[in-house]
Amino acid sequence: MKREQWNSQFGFLLAAVGSAIGLGNIWRFSYMAYNYGGGAFLIPYFTALLTAGIPLLILEFAVGHERIGSAPLAYAKIRKNWEWLGWWAVTFVMFGIVLYYMVIVAWCLNFFFLSFNLGWGNDPNTFFFKDFLAVSNSPSEIGQIRTPIFFALLVIWFINWFIVHRGVQRGIELANRIFMPLLFVLTAVLVFWSLTLEGAMSGVRAYLTPDFSRLSDPRVWIDAYSQIFFTLSLGFGIMIAYASYLPEKANITRYALLTAFINSGYSLFSGVAVFSVLGFMATTQGEPLSGVVSQSIGLAFVAYPKAVSLMPGGNIFGAIFFLCLVVAGLSSSISIIEAFTSAMVDKFGIRRKRLITIVSILGFFGSVIFTTQAGLLWLDIVDHFLTHYGLIVVGIFECILVGWFFRIKVLRQHVNRISTIKLGFWWDILIKYFVPLVLGIILVGDLYTELRKPYGGYTWASLILIGRDWILLTLVAAFVIASRPWKTEHNKTGGRSKH
Ligand code: PHE
Repeated sequence: MKREQWNSQFGFLLAAVGSAIGLGNIWRFSYMAYNYGGGAFLIPYFTALLTAGIPLLILEFAVGHERIGSAPLAYAKIRKNWEWLGWWAVTFVMFGIVLYYMVIVAWCLNFFFLSFNLGWGNDPNTFFFKDFLAVSNSPSEIGQIRTPIFFALLVIWFINWFIVHRGVQRGIELANRIFMPLLFVLTAVLVFWSLTLEGAMSGVRAYLTPDFSRLSDPRVWIDAYSQIFFTLSLGFGIMIAYASYLPEKANITRYALLTAFINSGYSLFSGVAVFSVLGFMATTQGEPLSGVVSQSIGLAFVAYPKAVSLMPGGNIFGAIFFLCLVVAGLSSSISIIEAFTSAMVDKFGIRRKRLITIVSILGFFGSVIFTTQAGLLWLDIVDHFLTHYGLIVVGIFECILVGWFFRIKVLRQHVNRISTIKLGFWWDILIKYFVPLVLGIILVGDLYTELRKPYGGYTWASLILIGRDWILLTLVAAFVIASRPWKTEHNKTGGRSKH
């Protein structure tokens, strides 16, 4: 069976950018920037991007391209007994991160429709938590499925299935060719519109004025690194699979740099819209900005709707905002369905289309838990554990595997042979020593805070049963799949360079 291929390298770039730009860029980035000292957050953010994000993105592109395989196959071709690492990544993302991610995209779809007649009423806070989510008191009180969310979720999974089912070129590539320009235009409309609002500048000032004192807090650095992982889809197994669909000659480093900078540029840019709107709201309500900013999810689903209601023509503004989130979310979620499917096809030679249908149905049912009244609480816990531990641990192991169990020089030479921007010896050093060390420190720091007090004020029991066990279960699944025999011959062939 011939490996799927992109129609053009530009199509690959768009798909990589599409995967990178997602909900993470809009709500996650903005509230982190705000919480962690405004402009000063850009220092840890860009440090993390340059020291870990870009080197690892190059690594993932290089591994997928040189070894010609999805994450488990590429790793198995490096060391047979490291196949599990690839399975773990694609499994906890596909049956973890994406399950709740789709639910947030579903909320965005609901809110898109609500925007037209400002359906959240005068009190968006009560509306979101009490009426819309009807959040229960603890993760063990599952309550009922929220019907509007359930149906929006069905639509979202259907769209995902539809796109990925059409294949790499006619599905993913085509979708991104439509989604990315659309997203950039819509975002630009939001940014320029928001800048015309009264008080916008006070928001932008708060966004960009650095508060350097926040930088002494290790949390800021830890979160900057995990944000970089999340936003560049690193440790997801996605970039590896996407790069494996490139032709023999592909300008790897150039695409890695472009992907990274377009992604961060988009975050910075869309942040302007978020903060202008908050500035506008603070001004019209005569409150300080800190009074109108709510944390995390509340930023998009409470603060924003509130502002939209105050704005002339706000319903259109709101609709565009939520449409942006839907589009950004879809171009990310399709990428992991592809990465997981690609891994299964590589190993078991299953028919792609049938597999995508099965995976989408399973994914849909898996998501349902997050549409219940305890959904938000589950989401919060699972997100915390998977993004803090799953992604970082995969990152560390990736560096060890490639840096220590593989001749990393060969990989660098492979990249340099086909890329215009050449990698120096420094890249080997970063991957072998620096990145794993930094990530190791982050991990230890994270574990330390974790054990000192229960995350988010949940009970230890719920954190263990939901968070830790989600990690362990996916890990067990990864080992089980990795132990199954190969149904294809792919693992017997090597990569593109002599090793
Ligand atoms: N990079 C994506 C984002 O920032 C993360 C993601 C990718 C999530 C793929 C799910 C699937 O939103």
